[in-house]
Amino acid sequence: MAMRIVVTGGMGDLGSRVVRLLVAQGHEAVAASRRTGLDLTTGAGLEPVVAGADAVVHCADDPSRGDFVTVYGTRRLADAAAARGVHLVHVSIVGIDDHPMAYYRRKLRAEQAVAAAGGPATVLRATQFHSLAAFFGRTLTKGPVTFTIGDMAFQPVDTDFVATRLAEVATGPRPAAYVRARDLAGPDVLPLVELARLVRAHRGASAPHAVHVPPVGRLLHAFAESRNVPVPGAAHVGGRTFAEWLATQPARLTGH
Ligand SMILES: NC(=O)c1ccc[n+]([C@@H]2O[C@H](COP(=O)([O-])OP(=O)(O)OC[C@H]3O[C@@H](n4cnc5c(N)ncnc54)[C@H](OP(=O)(O)O)[C@@H]3O)[C@@H](O)[C@H]2O)c1
Repeated sequence: MAMRIVVTGGMGDLGSRVVRLLVAQGHEAVAASRRTGLDLTTGAGLEPVVAGADAVVHCADDPSRGDFVTVYGTRRLADAAAARGVHLVHVSIVGIDDHPMAYYRRKLRAEQAVAAAGGPATVLRATQFHSLAAFFGRTLTKGPVTFTIGDMAFQPVDTDFVATRLAEVATGPRPAAYVRARDLAGPDVLPLVELARLVRAHRGASAPHAVHVPPVGRLLHAFAESRNVPVPGAAHVGGRTFAEWLATQPARLTGH
């Protein structure tokens, strides 16, 4: 049966893929963000968006706004969805428990807000998308040198794989209360230096030299310990490998 599913951030990287998948499956997918009149920082446009939805997939975020979208916006949305018994599917990030990075701490508080709202909700955590991992590989490489810390590594995931799983969860059975779905990750664990090598090889450059930087401070320690990588066997693994994704990208990577 066709469902009406709202996708917040439905014109963003992840959200637009969720919208396309849902439409291809015959569902009514409603992209909602500031461009369509929904502002999660104020709640403007929220009630009409949630009313009449069978589920909401929450892909809107803006890390540059501190708590305003990530925490308060998610709380507003979760409360509105819970009040109407609408299934909220919230995307989060692997390894955010006890992580010192400010954005990860906010994502954890966002999950807590979803749980506290008390409605039917599924939280799905994913590792870094391939595009973000490539960005790390580029920005931590200066000329032919990659600066790495301890065991810094990524298990990046294909954004389409995450979108597919979000669409499955949204169109699947509505949980009775808050649940955490199995974390998502891509097929390979890539040490940062290997990741940087793949990125450089993609544009025809030689393998980088690794320079190990001491993990000074809690943030660098967290990355040195690869807390962003799931414990082996814990995650649902799938989607294209980083190398397969990279092969579809232009030689000069931009953004993330
Ligand atoms: N990138 C990764 O590696 C990764 C990994 C795991 C999880 N995630 C999670 O995936 C989610 C989506 O990430 P993404 O990379 O697809 O983000 P994105 O491309 O930046 O899209 C986010 C969307 O949010 C909307 N938005 C921003 N501020 C808003 C507001 N105040 N009210 C309503 N909508 C607003 C924007 O649309 P408008 O400009 O039209 O408002 C934008 O299209 C995030 O929650 C992120 O934490 C990302």
